[in-house]
Amino acid sequence: MSSANVRVPAKINLCLGVGPVRDDGYHPLATVYQAVDLHDEVRAAVRDDDRITVTVHTDLDARSEIAVVPEDDDNLAVKAARLLRERTGVSAGADLAIRKVIPVAGGMAGGSADAAAALVACNDAWGTGLSRAELEELAAQLGSDVPFLLHGGNAIGGGRGETVSPVLARGSYHWVFAMADHGLSTKAVFAEFDRINAGAQVPDPVVPDALLSALRAGDAVALGQALSNDLTEAALSLRPELADTLAIGIEAGALGAILSGSGPTALFLASDEQNSLDIAFALSSAASCADVVQSRGPVAGARLI
Ligand code: C5P
Repeated sequence: MSSANVRVPAKINLCLGVGPVRDDGYHPLATVYQAVDLHDEVRAAVRDDDRITVTVHTDLDARSEIAVVPEDDDNLAVKAARLLRERTGVSAGADLAIRKVIPVAGGMAGGSADAAAALVACNDAWGTGLSRAELEELAAQLGSDVPFLLHGGNAIGGGRGETVSPVLARGSYHWVFAMADHGLSTKAVFAEFDRINAGAQVPDPVVPDALLSALRAGDAVALGQALSNDLTEAALSLRPELADTLAIGIEAGALGAILSGSGPTALFLASDEQNSLDIAFALSSAASCADVVQSRGPVAGARLI
């Protein structure tokens, strides 16, 4: 029986501009995505019958929130396989096996990553042969971050996050991620953003020029200063202890610190390997931080292995 394995990265948002809520409940975003070296793997094996099943494995037993990854039709990877099947008219089923490393509900697009990987894996295992552009169209229907996880590298995200366009960027960056022991719901953080801004005139979001020129120059110091996230106040309102996590990383010499997407993962830009180690060490004893990971970015999007 045919099968395919795909490796897919997590994403971070170097900036996350959030506009006023739209009629469809989503918020317009102006963001710069970067794919980082923290990967899930998804294997799709063709079945004789038309069932689509999913199992989720993790090495990270210490992280209790892994239990919330659904192993049924609510799993976004299953939805991705079903959507591809509807689009192509293929009749086969698939067993999906997810090896999970990206934190669940961590603001790093873990669920979206698995959906992107499932599209690529099933497209190969079923031999449906959709192009990358065709897969991106399906990806946008599955979630705001899914098209970027096919794309990888660095990219500007517009619309509700689903429109991805290239950005001129150089350099490879050292990141430290501080994971919290409980996830945050993206939906809840956007709802808190609306509550905080009720009655206020929320401007249309823009990508800061300072961030674009830092990326063009490959200047980590300037990038550290230009990191921004409009969901910070909302996420800190739901999880005040994250302010301590951010402060600890800055004190340890990080070039910049922000929450990743809707949080609760905090990310820190390090100047080099030694600085990255220093930040990771300082965070590892912080009560507000359950796990620390050193990483690099940018890396490629969802790829067959
Ligand atoms: O697109 P996705 O399903 O990943 O989004 C999860 C939730 O986050 C949405 O249901 C919505 O409440 C919120 N969201 C938003 N505006 C965006 C992206 C997500 O309000 N641009």
